[in-house]
Amino acid sequence: MEARLQEAKDSIRDVVDFPKEGIVFKDITTMLKSEKHLNTLVETLYQQYKGKGITKVVGLESRGFILGTVLAYKLGAGFVPVRKPGKLPAPTYSEKYSLEYGEDEIFIHQDALTADDVVLLHDDLLATGGTAKASIDLLNRFHLKNVFVNFLVELDFLKGRNKLNTKYEVDSLFHF
Ligand code: PRP
Ligand code: HPA
Repeated sequence: MEARLQEAKDSIRDVVDFPKEGIVFKDITTMLKSEKHLNTLVETLYQQYKGKGITKVVGLESRGFILGTVLAYKLGAGFVPVRKPGKLPAPTYSEKYSLEYGEDEIFIHQDALTADDVVLLHDDLLATGGTAKASIDLLNRFHLKNVFVNFLVELDFLKGRNKLNTKYEVDSLFHF
């Protein structure tokens, strides 16, 4: 891995027993607060996804919003939020899923995407894969032209990628 990417990866902090005992939480705030690392992340992802015809970046609440909107802007695409219960005001599609630490449901506006869209689905982290699987299921309702799936961090030992079971290209910048 390139030195500046390795430095960014090394700046991710482990927080033991958060939010529950037994979980070692990968905290990306220590990486994002650095202007140098933020620049590295945005430029790397921009180079990876430019030229792929992406028309919408779909970001997952809430940490997927952080770089999701920046990437959308850089790629000349629009931004679409996937949100937690009770947040989206207009008619939605929804999917229930189980988290590494709990249960939840996610929503997308029914008019957020059309079959002509090429989507970059972005979140900060892939853990058990529940959130990402539910998000891909949400996107499948739109019969999209193509989807790229991107995470900043993938916790390989949780094998979340196996759960995704998708034909789409899935990539994570950092693996632990
Ligand atoms: C975290 C993370 C991913 C998801 C990954 O979000 O940002 O969205 O969990 O876990 P999974 O692969 O096991 O589903 P969280 O629900 O904690 O919400 P937040 O981004 O609002 O903090
Ligand atoms: N770190 C950060 N976010 C997460 C984690 C984690 O270990 N698991 C699920 N979301």
